[in-house]
Amino acid sequence: MTERLQKLIAQAGLASRREAERWIEEGKVLLNGSPAKLGDRADLSLDQIHVDGKILRSAQEKVTILLNKPRGYVSTLKDPGGRRLVTDLIDNIPQRLFPVGRLDYNTEGLLLLTNDGELAQQVSHPRHHVDKTYLVKVRGRLSEKMVKQFERGLILEDGKTAPAKVENSRTTGSSCWFELTIHEGKNRQVRRMCEALGLTVVRLKRIRLDFLDLKDIATGRYRCLMDNEVERLKKIK
Ligand code: URA
Repeated sequence: MTERLQKLIAQAGLASRREAERWIEEGKVLLNGSPAKLGDRADLSLDQIHVDGKILRSAQEKVTILLNKPRGYVSTLKDPGGRRLVTDLIDNIPQRLFPVGRLDYNTEGLLLLTNDGELAQQVSHPRHHVDKTYLVKVRGRLSEKMVKQFERGLILEDGKTAPAKVENSRTTGSSCWFELTIHEGKNRQVRRMCEALGLTVVRLKRIRLDFLDLKDIATGRYRCLMDNEVERLKKIK
């Protein structure tokens, strides 16, 4: 169904209709590559609209973004304590996105946000083994015995953890860094696994989620996943 361009721009949350009319008059809006005129109509499923060089997407269209979450943000949509929300970092996306799983307030790194319920379910369901790799910095040393305990599984108050993988450990002064890969998503799992071994986590960053990593995404920035990446995530068994 076609709609007036100013209505589509307003529905996408970019501007009021009046402002959108002004943008059309100022030549900032392209319809299928040519400058749009007031009165033009379009169908977002057939036509391409650019506003100030950026493609206009419908608020219903599915979108998933990969955010490099900084410390000091909550990954919920509301916080009664008034702390900063991960969604405060997102702009120019009209869809209402929700985080896929959670990273603690002080955990950094890779967090997906989406409006695609199927994708969220696929990535967070424990039945699907989606590997999540964390870069962990702990106070003290990581002994061979501790590595074996991570690999065998640890008893936490809500049950035993599945075998985890430890890689690339290195000691720097009084701390130790290592990469820990798990596929479960128990609450504060990495911190609790470390606590169970008497290790205090001083820094925690999710650096990979299956085939996705943080390459070229600075802290606090994000990118949209491509269709083939979304399809690949949906296929993980
Ligand atoms: N494990 C944790 O302890 N915290 C996170 O934020 C993610 C995994």
